[in-house]
Amino acid sequence: MEGKILTLAIETSCDETACAVLENGRTILSNEIFTQIEIHQTFGGVVPEIASRNHLEKISGLVEAALEKANATFDDIDHIAVTYGPGLVGALLVGLSAAKGLAYALDKPLIPVNHIEGHVAANYIAHPELKPPFVCLIVSGGHTHLVDVKDYTAFEIIGRTRDDAAGEAFDKIARTLGMGYPGGPLIDKLAKEGNPHAIDFPQAMLDQEHLDFSFSGLKSAVLNYLNSCRMKQISIVPADVCASFQHAVVQVLKSKSEQALKKTGYDTLVLAGGVAANSALREVLAEIKDIKLYYPPIALCTDNAAMIGCAGYYNALAGKRADWSINAVPNLKIGE
Ligand code: KG4
Ligand code: ZN
Repeated sequence: MEGKILTLAIETSCDETACAVLENGRTILSNEIFTQIEIHQTFGGVVPEIASRNHLEKISGLVEAALEKANATFDDIDHIAVTYGPGLVGALLVGLSAAKGLAYALDKPLIPVNHIEGHVAANYIAHPELKPPFVCLIVSGGHTHLVDVKDYTAFEIIGRTRDDAAGEAFDKIARTLGMGYPGGPLIDKLAKEGNPHAIDFPQAMLDQEHLDFSFSGLKSAVLNYLNSCRMKQISIVPADVCASFQHAVVQVLKSKSEQALKKTGYDTLVLAGGVAANSALREVLAEIKDIKLYYPPIALCTDNAAMIGCAGYYNALAGKRADWSINAVPNLKIGE
C-alpha cells in the first residue's frame, strides 16, 4: 500500500449505518451500507432510538466487511474519518464511539467530518476533474443551503432555508398523500405521470435579492389545497399534486442557484444531498446556460460513508484531527 493513503470512514448520523475505505480520498475501495429505511417505514419517519440500536448492532460487521472488500487490514489504514454532526445525537454517538475506539486501539489519527461537507465531497468521488471553487446547492432531508465552496475545507453559507428543508417538504407532502416514507423518491416517480402546471403553488421569495429559501408556505398551500378539495368533494389527482408541488420546489432552487452563481461569479454549480437525486431538479438545473453542472450518482446522493471518507481525507490534509474529548454535535453548521 506504499504511497497510498487509506481512509476508513464511518457514518451513522441518521438511518443509514455505513462504512467505507477510500484510497487517496477520491477512489472507493469499498462502500458498505445498511439502510434502516424499511425498519422506520412502519412509523412513517425515523425513530431516533430505533436508529441508534440498529447502528449499534450493525456497525462492527460493516467495518469488517468494508476492510475485507477493500482487501485491506487495520494496519493498512492511515486514519479514521467519522461523522460527528449534524444528525441525531444517539445515532451519531454510535459511529463516533466506534471510530474513537478503533483510533485509540490502533493508534491512528481520528478525523472529524461534518456530514453536510461529506455530501459536497460525494461530487469529488464522482467527478475526478472537479475542484473548488464552486457554488454548491445542498438539498437533503434536514438542510437546504447554498454554499460558496472556496476550497476543499473552506465553506461559506450564502443562502439557507428559513424554515423547512426541501427534503422535509417532500417527505411531509408524501405522508399527507398517504404515499409512505421517504417521500422524495415516491413523489419524483409519481410526478412523472402528472402535470406540473395543473395547480399553481407558491414559489416563495423568488423576487427577493437574498439567497434564502422558505418551503413552509408551499407545504401549507399543498395541505390547504388537499383539504379544500376534500371539503368540496373534488377528486384529487395525486400525480398532478406531486408534479405541481415538485415544480414549485425545483423552480425556486433553480432561481436561487442562478442568483448565487451571479453573486459569486463562479461558472460551476454542484448539487449535493438526498434531494440531488430528484430527476426534475437535475433537468431544470441543466437549463441554466453557460455553466458546468455536477451531481453525484444516486447511490452517492443519499447518506453513505464514502463521501465522509473523501471529506475526511481533505480534512486530514488540512491538518484537522479530533482529540479524545470529541462529542456529537447534532446541530453542527457547515464550515465549523
Ligand atoms: O441526504 P439524505 O440522505 O439525508 C439527510 O442528510 O437528510 O436526504 C434524505 C432526503 C429525504 O428527505 C428524501 O425524501 C430525499 O432526500 N430524497 C429525494 C429523492 N431521493 C431522496 N427527494 C426528492 N427526489 C428524490 N428522488
Ligand atoms: Zn445526509
